[in-house]
Amino acid sequence: MNTLDPNLSTRQHIETQLNWRYATKLFDPQKKIDPADLHTLMESVRLSASSFGLQPWSFVLAQSEEMKAKLALAAPMNKSKFETASHIMVLANKKTLTPEYVDSYVQLISDTRGVPVQALQDFRAIMVNKTQAMSPEALAQWTARQTYIAMGSLMTTAALLGIDTCAMEGIDTAQFDDILGLSQTGHGTLAAVALGYRSKEDSLQFAKKVRFASDKILKMV
Ligand SMILES: Cc1cc2nc3c(=O)[nH]c(=O)nc-3n(C[C@H](O)[C@H](O)[C@H](O)COP(=O)(O)O)c2cc1C
Repeated sequence: MNTLDPNLSTRQHIETQLNWRYATKLFDPQKKIDPADLHTLMESVRLSASSFGLQPWSFVLAQSEEMKAKLALAAPMNKSKFETASHIMVLANKKTLTPEYVDSYVQLISDTRGVPVQALQDFRAIMVNKTQAMSPEALAQWTARQTYIAMGSLMTTAALLGIDTCAMEGIDTAQFDDILGLSQTGHGTLAAVALGYRSKEDSLQFAKKVRFASDKILKMV
């Protein structure tokens, strides 16, 4: 695990960890993420931002060797990560978003914040109009974009905790849906993130980061 230096300021710590993170190809299979860190990682996706707060996603955390091996068969390109990572987080986006789902969210706001459902009807109408006006393809793209925000949040949180990750789109999403029973819930697999601790054998950890300079991609105005 990366040694987190107590003498670093928060800002230094964040930049150090953002540079430390890399797309890990091979994990140390002996090292498992402890329950407290797992809890924080799960909170990082649950607390992620989404349009209207609708949370159009679901997540599956694969932890058993049996399940990881099953998923590996549906991700030959990324086999080494499935075989060595401590955990695999599968991120799925909603394929349909019904008025009933919006109602369940409105009810949750009401219960959580003590606001009468009646007072939330204008907000409900905006959400229903927006989601019902989209084609199924546009809706799936919209929910996918939001699910990717959760993915980014997961990877950054992991890096801050000294946990390695590899984002993976190179998976057979239809097979993942079957294995995890996601289609029945109205979700579809989008991508997966391998989580664990880098193996000493993974030479990529020593390679320099390849990034365009700030002035090429960012403008202050
Ligand atoms: C959405 C997404 C999908 C990716 N899919 C894969 C993948 O299937 N397999 C893999 O080895 N790396 C995958 N990567 C990792 C990228 O190749 C990597 O992030 C990029 O080369 C930059 O390197 P760095 O993350 O080490 O800085 C993916 C990254 C992202 C953000």
